[in-house]
Amino acid sequence: MAHQWRGVLREYADRLDISDATPIITLGEGGTPLIPADALSHRTGAKVWVKFEGMNPTGSFKDRGMTMAVSKAVEHGAKAIICASTGNTSASAAAYAAHAGITAAVLVPEGKIAMGKLSQAVAHNGQLIQLRGNFDDCLEIARELAENYPVHLVNSVNNDRIEGQKTAAFEVVEVLGDAPDFHFVPVGNAGNYTAYHRGYTEELAISATTRMPRMFGFQAAGSAPMVLGHVVKDPDTIASAIRIGNPASWELALKAQADSDGYFGSITDDKILEAHRILSAEVGIFVEPASAISVAGLLERAEAGEIPKGSTVVLTVTGHGLKDPQWALRTADGSEVQPTIVSVDTDEVAGVLGLVRA
Ligand code: F0G
Repeated sequence: MAHQWRGVLREYADRLDISDATPIITLGEGGTPLIPADALSHRTGAKVWVKFEGMNPTGSFKDRGMTMAVSKAVEHGAKAIICASTGNTSASAAAYAAHAGITAAVLVPEGKIAMGKLSQAVAHNGQLIQLRGNFDDCLEIARELAENYPVHLVNSVNNDRIEGQKTAAFEVVEVLGDAPDFHFVPVGNAGNYTAYHRGYTEELAISATTRMPRMFGFQAAGSAPMVLGHVVKDPDTIASAIRIGNPASWELALKAQADSDGYFGSITDDKILEAHRILSAEVGIFVEPASAISVAGLLERAEAGEIPKGSTVVLTVTGHGLKDPQWALRTADGSEVQPTIVSVDTDEVAGVLGLVRA
């Protein structure tokens, strides 16, 4: 029988705090492709690879941390989990809870999460509550509930989440044979930034790599607390996944930045959408807007002359484009893409396609 990827807990059992007493709640997450992106290499002069995390079971990187968090929660007897979310965490929590046969309560900001993610949380039988507030408000309530009621918090303030997510760095190293020179990630709560840094730190400690990549994290311009150095009260961006004004892993991420000679930058929504189009149309990878910020960040840093030619660069793109597909139907000038409609007539179709009879 062909080998099937067994999910990150089994594949990396020796690198995670699990034991025979830990039930393995898995949907086969991890083992995502690292894809060479020639179009981005040509644009920047670097050797660019894309870690496509949209290929996880629920379509985002969150599954890596959720398999760990839910497995540990069940090990400790939890019957219910709770999280605040901009969408992907809620989809993942609901799916893993369903698989484990426990309950997931998810708190999301009203009207601010993408339709695909909302559908997932509902489909997986999550107890979905929309708050009249933003993500930061949702996280505060989730924390208070977990402190005072019998529900287990599975946001990335739960260290098990970061532990599961660090496995993505292991996979990058396995493919490249070393760490890259630069690693770019989108930043919301800065949990994933922290997780990659932890993964690379552990690889370096066992001499699986020769270097620590410079960790480059990007936030949307209207939602960039780590760049501004202060909490943003009313964060605003079309990249709803990273619409976060008070990142939960702020302190840990600052340490990771210092240790890796890293960088935090911000990107306007227009530049995010431009990068979204480039990644879709020139590389063939469809992501949600928040994920495209890794690409936009690379293009911006390369233009600023900050990425030496020939550097190895990995861009993590965190969520699948099908979660929030509407952005693909907008052109660069902001108008709606118009469908071409013709009669059932071969010559007419050929004419529209500009084909000349052979
Ligand atoms: N990209 C996507 C697609 C996300 O959903 C998130 C976070 C991030 C990037 C940022 O990762 O928070 O670790 O810095 N989404 C969370 C959620 C907040 O609720 O789904 P981070």
